[in-house]
Amino acid sequence: MRKIAVLTSGGDSPGMNSCIRAVVRYAISQGLEIFGIKRGYQGLIEDDMELMSIRSVGNIIQQGGTILKTARCKEFKQDEVIDKAVQILRNRGIEGLVVIGGDGTFRGAERLIERGILCACIPATIDNNLFYTDYTLGFDTATNTVVDLINKVRDTSLSHDRVFIAETMGAGCGDLALKAGLAAGADMVIVPEVSCNVDDIVKKLLYAKSQNKKFSMIVLSEKVFDTNELKKVLTEKSGIECRTIVFGHIQRGGSPSAFDRNLGINFGVRAVQELMNGNCGVVGYKDGQYIYDTIEFALSVKQNFNYEEYKLIETLSI
Ligand code: F6P
Repeated sequence: MRKIAVLTSGGDSPGMNSCIRAVVRYAISQGLEIFGIKRGYQGLIEDDMELMSIRSVGNIIQQGGTILKTARCKEFKQDEVIDKAVQILRNRGIEGLVVIGGDGTFRGAERLIERGILCACIPATIDNNLFYTDYTLGFDTATNTVVDLINKVRDTSLSHDRVFIAETMGAGCGDLALKAGLAAGADMVIVPEVSCNVDDIVKKLLYAKSQNKKFSMIVLSEKVFDTNELKKVLTEKSGIECRTIVFGHIQRGGSPSAFDRNLGINFGVRAVQELMNGNCGVVGYKDGQYIYDTIEFALSVKQNFNYEEYKLIETLSI
């Protein structure tokens, strides 16, 4: 193998740049030529790529986002579009691809592998919704960002004796809400993995009030409830003044934590090593070890939610 390429696809996540830097510099150290593909699979089908150098990834280790840019390429499910991508890679003599992204990105890589392109995938999303790995790249930074935001909301919330509903991202996975909620001392966490009805929330709020606790922090994972509707119903049913805050895309930005930088570096180096050995698959981090497995296995693991920690939120709140 002489030539490989790297791309980032789907929602960006902090640590992608640290990972790109490691992929590029390690590949060059091994005598490979490496291309950076712009805007994920979208750039691939438009043949939008450039040869990377040691210098082209200088001073990016601390930056959030991705210097390669990213996109969600809906067309990359169609056979003719994937065939075109394969042709572009073949024309350039690129035999292997490091793809950095979430589950949609992995599915795109599966299609390329079926057509003979070697792919090594790196899990990167703030959602932590690739359950074969304990951590996806960017999740740790996003968790710290949410904790910081909740701390700030807590200040104003305490001053006014208010109940706050803070909405996190998660795309159907409650990990971000759970880990940030636990670390920020939330009173309740509402996640897709555990069914919850509004009356239960009202009961808890009224109990807290009866114990002279006027402030409560409810962390809500996106799309479980409509946040504004929940606020309206809670206020009506409990008579307690509620406010909402939607953290939104702030959760995806910012300088990566040391944990995410190191995760990105280890993921990136391992991905290049596996490609050089002709192995398609996914890197991951499980029980303190870096692992490499198939995409099929990675996508088959459906659940890794920590119900024990979820119960702790209730135990440790009033
Ligand atoms: O997958 C990452 C994520 O940030 C999800 O948490 C969220 O639901 C989604 O992307 C938002 O996507 P977009 O940036 O395309 O609005």
